[in-house]
Amino acid sequence: MTLRPIPVILDGDPGLDDAVAWWLALASPELHLLGITAVHGNVGLPLTVQNTGTVLALAGSNLPYFAGADRPLIREGLSAASVHGQTGLPAKHLPQPRQGPQQEHAVDFIVRTVRERPGEVTLIPTGPLTNLALAFRLAPDLPEKIREVVWMGGSTGHGNRTPAAEFNALADPHAARIVFESGVRLRMVGLNVTMQCIATPERIAALRELGNRTGAVSAELLTFYASVYRERYGLSGGALHDPLAVAAVIRPELLDWRNMPVDIETQEGLNFGRTVCDLYSTTRPANAKVAIGVQDADFFALLLERLGRLP
Ligand code: BDR
Ligand code: CA
Repeated sequence: MTLRPIPVILDGDPGLDDAVAWWLALASPELHLLGITAVHGNVGLPLTVQNTGTVLALAGSNLPYFAGADRPLIREGLSAASVHGQTGLPAKHLPQPRQGPQQEHAVDFIVRTVRERPGEVTLIPTGPLTNLALAFRLAPDLPEKIREVVWMGGSTGHGNRTPAAEFNALADPHAARIVFESGVRLRMVGLNVTMQCIATPERIAALRELGNRTGAVSAELLTFYASVYRERYGLSGGALHDPLAVAAVIRPELLDWRNMPVDIETQEGLNFGRTVCDLYSTTRPANAKVAIGVQDADFFALLLERLGRLP
């Protein structure tokens, strides 16, 4: 039996692991991509929009893309250029976008598309949740009309940008709280699982050996990333955070899941941006399905095979 592809909107802040995640999505027949929305995050919005066009051009895709929020709801902007390079895509020979972004704002696109297909659309945000939070405020009917949100962000344990907070959560904690309190069906793919999925030198070599342009550029980006992870975390390569969220939609069984209440700390202080995960549901009913385990080797095999399908 062939299942109908899942209608998906990708939302993110490329960012080199967002780029690899989107190539995985673009190469996967299980997904029917409707558009990509860019948001501030790893680098500023003008660059994440430009990089979205570049990611699509590299994959030979004419999918429409949209510019979204250029800053968090309340806090000041946060960047991760030290991890992703000043441009967000540290590779030498990248194609120019084939087309510019659409005129429609990313938030309007999300609202319109979900309303056109009630109950059908999955959103995969791999950056700060500002675009989603704005969409939920603009259209309070949206959470119940979304099939599912599968977010790369947060952690059941420690953070990466601060001891308590993961970058995407910290870059807009107020937006994350709006999304987590919205009642939307939500899965969270956090650092506790993504930090187990490392782009080791052997894996980077396997990507290069695919022999296509996507494999070569992915290998170049992940080599840059590895130098940061080696220095900062003592790991042999960078963590494949965002690709794991896309894989979680293509093959949910690659991860172990647990329902639990998750709240976001929005008070500035030591725990600002922390996703407080109530593993044993001691406080209230669950509002999220949280990834607590991952089949890393199977995940990387999927990523490698799919990236091999692109130009
Ligand atoms: C997340 O932060 C960003 O730098 C990455 O692209 C990923 O989405 C990991 O904490
Ligand atoms: Ca990201």
